Amino acid sequence: IQKSSSVDAITVTRGHRLRMNRGVEVQDESDRGRGENYESELENREVTADQRKWIRPDLPSRCTWRLGAPLSESPHSHPERTKAPSILPNILWKIGHTPLVRLNKIPKEFGLKCDILAKCEFFNAGGSVKDRIALRMVEDAERPTSGNTGIGLALTAAVKGYRCIITMPEKMSMEKVDVLRALGVEIVRTPTSAAFDTPESHIGTAWGLKNEIPNSHILDQYRNASNPLAHYDTTAEEILEQCDGKLDMLVAGAGTGGTLTGVARKLKERCPNVKIVGVDPEGSILVESKEKNEKKVSFEVEGIGYDFIPTVLDRSLVDMWYKSTDVETFTMSRKLIREEGLLCGGSSGSAVAAAVRMAQQLEEGQRCVVILADSVRNYMSKFLSDEWMCEKGFLSLEAQMDHEPWWWNLTVQSLHLSAPLTVSPSLSCQKTIEILREKAFDQAPVVNESGVILGMVTLGRILSFVSAGKAKPSEAVSNVLCKSFKQVHLTDSLGKLSHILKTDNFAPVVHDHIQYEADGSACQRQVVFGVVTAIDLLNYITTHERLDQSSSECSLSDDVSL
Ligand SMILES: Cc1ncc(COP(=O)(O)O)c(C=O)c1O
Repeated sequence: IQKSSSVDAITVTRGHRLRMNRGVEVQDESDRGRGENYESELENREVTADQRKWIRPDLPSRCTWRLGAPLSESPHSHPERTKAPSILPNILWKIGHTPLVRLNKIPKEFGLKCDILAKCEFFNAGGSVKDRIALRMVEDAERPTSGNTGIGLALTAAVKGYRCIITMPEKMSMEKVDVLRALGVEIVRTPTSAAFDTPESHIGTAWGLKNEIPNSHILDQYRNASNPLAHYDTTAEEILEQCDGKLDMLVAGAGTGGTLTGVARKLKERCPNVKIVGVDPEGSILVESKEKNEKKVSFEVEGIGYDFIPTVLDRSLVDMWYKSTDVETFTMSRKLIREEGLLCGGSSGSAVAAAVRMAQQLEEGQRCVVILADSVRNYMSKFLSDEWMCEKGFLSLEAQMDHEPWWWNLTVQSLHLSAPLTVSPSLSCQKTIEILREKAFDQAPVVNESGVILGMVTLGRILSFVSAGKAKPSEAVSNVLCKSFKQVHLTDSLGKLSHILKTDNFAPVVHDHIQYEADGSACQRQVVFGVVTAIDLLNYITTHERLDQSSSECSLSDDVSL
């Protein structure tokens, strides 16, 4: 993050210790309490470790906080909370002071005796709990990502006039990317599968950029003490105020762990008997080792779960962990929207799924506060979409329908698709356009000499690449390949196909087979049988319905003539 007009506002000294223009210093969780030599020591360790200049996001925490220590011993500054004026000076004042809302139908359905109170963080200006840390990290740096932190930072950067570059894994929703772009951020997408400690991961890429761009600073939410501090000083204080200091359980998901750590520290200081429940998705290693998560390596819920233990996560504060599954997560998020009217995101479903189970141990009159971290706005094309839910196996197609139409369980094979027109990857865009025009097609699969599908080329995609200057008409189609599309098999049902065609213009029909190589090794291959579009399905349905009708009319007239 870099001030667009003057780069003097934020300066970075080596070893990731930040010095602000007002002379205040912010330290990282991982270097607090160390001497001056520590910076160069750390830097040496980093470079010799893997010849890259970066600081690991999972260094052991050096935080000196301890339960029971007086505030005067705190190594941090704790700004006073101020009452907002009637007219807010800018939108950053709309961060914090989120409502605490009682859940009604869901606790009843799960037979709970206690109250479940939802801290609705989606009412923050940028739509998530992360607005709090973004503002605090920048303000602490003036005086120093992923997904939602990005939106909070982008909002803060837009209002304060910083240039902001955000690195984020491909997994993060397009809704988040679009909001970030609208806020003027430069975005670099990174492979979701890249391990956190590789140069290709979102963390590695951010360090690469920081090392390249002069006067830039990396906020590093994984190590930045301002992350848990934002929650210690605001989120937890608000909860205590809203509950008159009386609560028995707190449930929160853990991503960086900043929310859980910051809130838990303050609550444990003020309500010694409070139980802290951390929520970690299956496949993440925040609570269990990689080996224990072996069965499942990826998960769909965004914002919680990692493949390393972030420095700011203080696991000693957590009394109970809950491992959430994607299916219960998204089922509960939909329930929160449908039954409680709370327009929350996916990880809120994980937290409430945990709360309704863990709060079984609470009695009538006791209180469980659960953090709803973000808004459904980020997931309109994901868990809010029935198509997405079905495609991922979180909702059954049939469950949604009153009755299935006659063609629903017939297979794609029934469509008798004609052999596809395919193009080779070296064909030029210009020639491809001519062929598609002549054959009246909008798209074609691009296949190599062995018939293996490399991707799809569509007229729309060529147009967008050529018009944006990203490809020339003379370039090979391999440069404009579309790789994200859904495929169907000949054995898939027309019901499944109809769902895909509600959102996609086409679907290649593929066949999987095993190919043995010269060295005897076997590999999975896919060949393309055809491309199916809405017109193929509609033609089939209407033609057969007509045939059906005329044959029944025919038998009726036969009956009459008899
Ligand atoms: C949707 C969502 N839920 C939960 C969290 C967890 O927050 P933390 O990083 O404080 O653990 C995040 C963090 O990005 C988030 O985006």
